[in-house]
Amino acid sequence: MTDPLSIRYADPEDAEQLVTLVNRLATESRFLVVDTIDPDTGPATVAEHLEAIQTSVLHVVLVAEVAERLVGIGLGAAEAHPAKRGSMRIDLGILSDWQRRGIGTQLMRGLEFAAKERGCHRLDLTVMVENIPAMRLYQACGFVFEGRLHRHLIINGEAVDQFLMAKMIG
Ligand SMILES: CC(C)(COP(=O)(O)OP(=O)(O)OC[C@H]1O[C@@H](n2cnc3c(N)ncnc32)[C@H](O)[C@@H]1OP(=O)(O)O)[C@@H](O)C(=O)NCCC(=O)NCCS
Repeated sequence: MTDPLSIRYADPEDAEQLVTLVNRLATESRFLVVDTIDPDTGPATVAEHLEAIQTSVLHVVLVAEVAERLVGIGLGAAEAHPAKRGSMRIDLGILSDWQRRGIGTQLMRGLEFAAKERGCHRLDLTVMVENIPAMRLYQACGFVFEGRLHRHLIINGEAVDQFLMAKMIG
């Protein structure tokens, strides 16, 4: 990577590029369960959402940017109930051309930092049992397996198991 990588919070001006990124990730990876976003109407809605969560203690949207292009995203979400807000559920996606360059690891570090700043003591995630690359990354980042969620997803009519993984951060 010759151009520097920046990991930063997404802001409303990123909306159009974020829609493109999410739509590419949705098409590229069978391991990401995301809906595509309408490229015409989506950016305005995404911009509103990003504006609304800028000061949120419950939601984090990080982007990985290289040469003013968004190449990856890291999402974190906690629930509002006081009993639940210490756990942040996270998700990662890196464009295929940009994988295996340490971007996922850096987004994960950013999510961990953001979660700690928000008082969270735990990160967790679900990962399809066949998604070896993601599991390797999560293990390298200190996540451990907490259990298997049997038939947790139905994809193209097929039941898919997921692992629950977590990392204590405080
Ligand atoms: C999984 C994913 C986020 C990894 O991101 P990445 O930027 O490629 O990961 P990194 O470059 O930081 O890799 C860190 C480590 O994870 C492991 N890893 C990552 N990709 C791997 C692969 N394809 N095969 C084996 N191990 C892999 C390696 O241990 C790697 O360290 P190394 O390169 O020094 O060997 C990325 O492949 C991706 O976005 N996949 C599609 C969407 C997805 O599956 N998201 C997760 C849903 S739960």
